[in-house]
Amino acid sequence: MRVLNGQSEVDRGGPDPNGLGACYGCAFVPTMGALHDGHMALVRRARELSSDGTPVVVSIFVNPTQFGPREDFSRYPRTLEADLERCRSAGVDVVFAPPAEVVYPSDITVMAPPLPLVATEPGLEDRIRPGHFAGVCQVVSRLFDLLRPRWAVFGEKDYQQLRVIEAMTGNGAWGVRIAPVATVREPDGLAMSSRNRYLDTARRTRATALFAALARANEHDRPDAAEEVMRRTLAEWGLAVEYAVVRDAETLMPLTSEGVPSRRARSLLAARLGEIRLIDNAPWVGSRTPAGLD
Ligand code: PAJ
Repeated sequence: MRVLNGQSEVDRGGPDPNGLGACYGCAFVPTMGALHDGHMALVRRARELSSDGTPVVVSIFVNPTQFGPREDFSRYPRTLEADLERCRSAGVDVVFAPPAEVVYPSDITVMAPPLPLVATEPGLEDRIRPGHFAGVCQVVSRLFDLLRPRWAVFGEKDYQQLRVIEAMTGNGAWGVRIAPVATVREPDGLAMSSRNRYLDTARRTRATALFAALARANEHDRPDAAEEVMRRTLAEWGLAVEYAVVRDAETLMPLTSEGVPSRRARSLLAARLGEIRLIDNAPWVGSRTPAGLD
């Protein structure tokens, strides 16, 4: 396994100015590190996609531009040595762990690409974390420019992010295809997350409310009833609800809004346990019942 930082000493003006030619055409897994079994499921998917011998590349970069001023950029967990060991045992070919000046060189303005509607209209992560998707699209498009992947693997755990990246690349830009991976969960249903390590024992128990809420949403066949039971479940467990909604699985807009709804629906929620923010989502199969949705 090679560990590259993009600071090539050779061929600065040439066709491979960052010394990343070994990554071109790769199956790519972008991460912010602090790797857990959820990330490793993405790596396994990348390995399947690269069966023709193209390299599997994992990037580890805690991107400052996607964190808000009051968010946890400075205390985001950084565990590079353990991450490299995990990647090594998972058969990763290249870990790209660049310093900030390679991603955002002082002599280049790294533009944020135009944001798709799914990054600005749904009123979910876009509302709670203004600027977040501009930062995500900025760093992901920059990583695509540097690594030129054929495939990029993203988790359904961050469902709106997945839809944003699918929309951003949907016009064939970068010639990359997006591969989604289902959310990997702890045995009690809690979605794995780098931020779970902040949960003390009492909060760790209460965090299972998110999975319970998603499960109970599927016991209802009307979106408003499903949303109500999700809000109630989260509140019963003492979580502060940011949103708990059932949406069109593609546009993430309300199922009743104008336009042709896709046939699939998704329940999505975000809640706080003190200062710790948790998100989760699941297919909403209650949508099979209303006329026209199935
Ligand atoms: P990070 O939070 O490290 O997540 C990297 C990838 O792992 C994302 O695609 C995310 O959806 C996926 N992932 C995280 N937990 C998962 C789980 N329990 N099951 C399945 N997949 C999971 O998302 C980011 O980093 C950043 O925004 C990034 C895309 C790297 C841009 O900076």
